[in-house]
Amino acid sequence: MLPVTPEPVRVGVLGCGNVGAPLIDLVRTRVDEIASRLGVRLEVTRVAVRSLAKERAVDLPAGVLTTDAAGLVTDPGIDVVVELIGGIEPARELTLAALRAGKPVITGNKELLANVGAELFAAAEASGVDLLFEAAVGGGIPVIRPLRESLAGERITRVTGIVNGTTNYILTRMTEDGVSYGEALGEAQRLGYAERDPTADVEGHDAAAKAAIIASIAFGCRVVAGDVTNEGIAGITPVDIAYAAKMGYVVKLLAIAERVEGEVGVRVHPAMVPAAHPLASVRDSFNAVFVEGEAVGELMLYGRGAGGLPTASAVLGDLIDAAVNRAKGSHATVGALGKARLRSIDEVCSAHYLNLDVADRPGVLAAVAGVFGRHDVSIRSMEQEGLGDEARLVFITHAAREADVQATIRDLHHLDAVDRITSVLRVIGTE
Ligand SMILES: NC(=O)c1ccc[n+]([C@@H]2O[C@H](COP(=O)([O-])OP(=O)(O)OC[C@H]3O[C@@H](n4cnc5c(N)ncnc54)[C@H](OP(=O)(O)O)[C@@H]3O)[C@@H](O)[C@H]2O)c1
Repeated sequence: MLPVTPEPVRVGVLGCGNVGAPLIDLVRTRVDEIASRLGVRLEVTRVAVRSLAKERAVDLPAGVLTTDAAGLVTDPGIDVVVELIGGIEPARELTLAALRAGKPVITGNKELLANVGAELFAAAEASGVDLLFEAAVGGGIPVIRPLRESLAGERITRVTGIVNGTTNYILTRMTEDGVSYGEALGEAQRLGYAERDPTADVEGHDAAAKAAIIASIAFGCRVVAGDVTNEGIAGITPVDIAYAAKMGYVVKLLAIAERVEGEVGVRVHPAMVPAAHPLASVRDSFNAVFVEGEAVGELMLYGRGAGGLPTASAVLGDLIDAAVNRAKGSHATVGALGKARLRSIDEVCSAHYLNLDVADRPGVLAAVAGVFGRHDVSIRSMEQEGLGDEARLVFITHAAREADVQATIRDLHHLDAVDRITSVLRVIGTE
């Protein structure tokens, strides 16, 4: 048993919602175990919320709840602050005030870090305290600490993640039950996986914020949410899913951060993933992050990317780290974050799937193939299906520059023989 620090570490929590409430409960039920294993005794002494009248999912002693969040973060009776209110303001102001008052901060707020992370990291460094955020990217999955510590000496080349449980659930239902996007979304909403306004999830904004944080930590540079090119899943049809399955692929929404020729490219888009790829087996609302490094090769972190209790578990891990570091007078660092040289999406190389409705007459295939050839996009496989009005050509290309594929698509639109380009999807793992 480790000697326990004589004074408890007094924790102030901002927010008592889906994550805050189970965190407070975990601290209370595990306090003795944590003290004997790690030598720090945690005590939640103040909790700030918006409304004192609301019923809470956790019992709190009288006097702990307050609506004075600004007072909490500068209270000399608080040693460590946990920010679980979400959004940019007032979370940013409160986090800065806590850091400037010399208090370590733990946050699960991806929006905050993906937009104003650099300002917060600088404030934490200036005060010599921790700013920890394991829960912000992978919910309950350890992603940040492995990238920052275990892989600190690794040259990471690419990180590919399924980092949004809602969209993964929708795509899984479309794949396994053959339902439409609208039906799968409705089910996700009924089950509480999707918000009533699902925009942030289905349009890829949530995944883009997480991709920005992953890129910053993996490549040691400043990437913000606005640097990420993103496309959502609303355009995916059962036809795409069926073609993917027929050709040995699964459709997933991917967040990809990669370093190519000294530049960093970060993007979110749906893609076809080979059925044998480890990410293809990530089903339902589960998340996973697949890392490729020069020395380590390939590794994957998998688990619950959201949910109150799994996320609270990650916050608790950070809280213990911050308490132990504080006792030792040390703190973790993300290291120097340089300016990112961002790679334009035009330069990204990937294979593509294209599904075209075409006229059923001689010479069509040659005309279409000619457009691909003119733009240096080489065809890996082609299938012709249906007759008459139902005629369709399905192509998978070799890896090609995004700008060349877009030019091909523009020209195909102008080709008489092509009635409609019904879908275009990137394909990973086939380069
Ligand atoms: N839920 C997840 O699965 C998950 C997963 C990963 C990361 N996160 C992140 O964790 C954070 C918290 O998420 P959550 O799901 O727990 O949110 P939530 O359920 O909406 O809870 C937010 C809490 O913050 C309080 N609050 C909001 N504005 C406040 C203010 N100005 N001053 C004081 N308190 C304020 C609310 O008070 P009232 O209760 O009085 O309204 C509520 O207790 C977010 O950054 C989120 O992105 C969540």
